[in-house]
Amino acid sequence: MEVEGLKGKAAELAKSLIPEKLPVHVAVIMDGNGRWAKKRGLPRVKGHERGARTLRKVVELSAKLGIKYLTAFAFSKENWNRPREEIDFLMNLLRNYLKKEVKTLKKNGIRLKIAGDIEELPEDIQNLIRKAEGETSSGQRLELILAVNYGGRAEIVRAAKGMAGEGEFSVDAFRRHLYLPHVPDPDLLIRTSGEQRISNFLLWQMAYTELYFTPVLWPDFSEREYIKALLDYQRRERRFGRI
Ligand code: FPP
Repeated sequence: MEVEGLKGKAAELAKSLIPEKLPVHVAVIMDGNGRWAKKRGLPRVKGHERGARTLRKVVELSAKLGIKYLTAFAFSKENWNRPREEIDFLMNLLRNYLKKEVKTLKKNGIRLKIAGDIEELPEDIQNLIRKAEGETSSGQRLELILAVNYGGRAEIVRAAKGMAGEGEFSVDAFRRHLYLPHVPDPDLLIRTSGEQRISNFLLWQMAYTELYFTPVLWPDFSEREYIKALLDYQRRERRFGRI
């Protein structure tokens, strides 16, 4: 397919994309920021800064391709165990993102949602989240979900409690108590930096998700790399337990 604004090799590769066979929901584990920085003799946080730039590009291309949901793992429950300065830096990135990107998101028809235990985040970030979600809620093109203070097991426990409160026990009842019940399960998970793990991301939702791992570090994950992942996905035969 032709994609507006794409040039060179990325545009060439995009020609092989089949619009009807694109995933509806892409999830990404943006891994390798620290290693990217280390390789260049930079502090780890520089890697996160570049990583935020990569996320912007991936969001933009997703919208252009007509992907409907993009979930990015921005901060896990386990990330609280990192050094204080790194946590503060990541929280600041999130603050800035929520303050500065909302205009662009709105303009491009992108709806922002956060998945995770928001009430454990600093108060001002909670307010920024409510504001950003509210201001972008009418976006129809793409839903961008940032997983923040997110853990798959925590989400499962939370949903189990909700289901018990309701007194109905079924897959559908469980789903109603996820952070974002309206979001379809991811079709494709991309994890960068060579790690081949799920790391407590969307455990319930990934029952039938196609997994794609690439050695490329997240700050280096280009439009071209993204299209390569989508092409790989299109070649797969999804059976969902059928023959
Ligand atoms: C994993 O790399 C990355 C993270 C824990 C943070 C991801 C955050 C971003 C890409 C910034 C965008 C976020 C916002 C708030 C909009 P790592 O640090 O584990 O890398 P390493 O495995 O090489 O050490």
